[in-house]
Amino acid sequence: MKRRRVVAGNWKMNLNSLEANDLVQDLLSLKHESARIILGVPFVYIASLARLTNGSNIEMAAQNCHHEQKGAYTGEISVEMLKSIGTDYVILGHSERREYFNEDDTLILQKMQLAHEAGLKVIYCCGEPLSVREAGSQNEFVQNQLAQSLLKLSAEEMKNTIVAYEPIWAIGTGKTATADQAQSMHQHIRQLISAQFGQEIADQSSILYGGSVKPANAEELFSKDDVDGGLVGGASLKAELFGPIIEANL
Ligand code: PGA
Repeated sequence: MKRRRVVAGNWKMNLNSLEANDLVQDLLSLKHESARIILGVPFVYIASLARLTNGSNIEMAAQNCHHEQKGAYTGEISVEMLKSIGTDYVILGHSERREYFNEDDTLILQKMQLAHEAGLKVIYCCGEPLSVREAGSQNEFVQNQLAQSLLKLSAEEMKNTIVAYEPIWAIGTGKTATADQAQSMHQHIRQLISAQFGQEIADQSSILYGGSVKPANAEELFSKDDVDGGLVGGASLKAELFGPIIEANL
């Protein structure tokens, strides 16, 4: 089976409600029906945008969820709440969550399992900081991240997980990994998935590249065998930038 190509956007903490609606209307009018598009939008827009995109090829992702099922956690959002308003995916393990909210792989694993239990799919992010890349130990670093989280999932959970490799030094910096650097890490990640879950699941797992993906570099990155699309931050906030990235992945 050919694995599916995906372009996912990560809006982070950007756009007001009107801007969010306009952007999604613009994306719907592009009519890239064959593309698989996932938008990681702020919690507060998910319900209305899920209605707006219902029946289209755009799916909704949350950017986080709480690690407990429910209870006295003022201000938090549970997986069941997300599921009940039409959320398809949750992005977990993003480097900004790891860095600013001290999320470690144990917590990320807990969230992943809870999300899967609730019937949500997961976009799992991994990737090394600049110092690790400069020392040449990025493969070991990512392997260690995966060993503590992704590779502890069940086979069924893995089938419902998209992996995003996002080198931290490339996120929001304008500095992109070269297509060869991306390919090499994606191949490494696929081998690790294969060793744990078998070749069939590894072959079907979508592995996205993230970190300063732009219209100018998308095509080259996406042309690599093990790069199945992208997770796009800044350039997902404008239809005139995100549209060409979606096209580059068709
Ligand atoms: P960027 O962000 O495209 O702005 O570098 C990517 C991400 O954080 O997912």
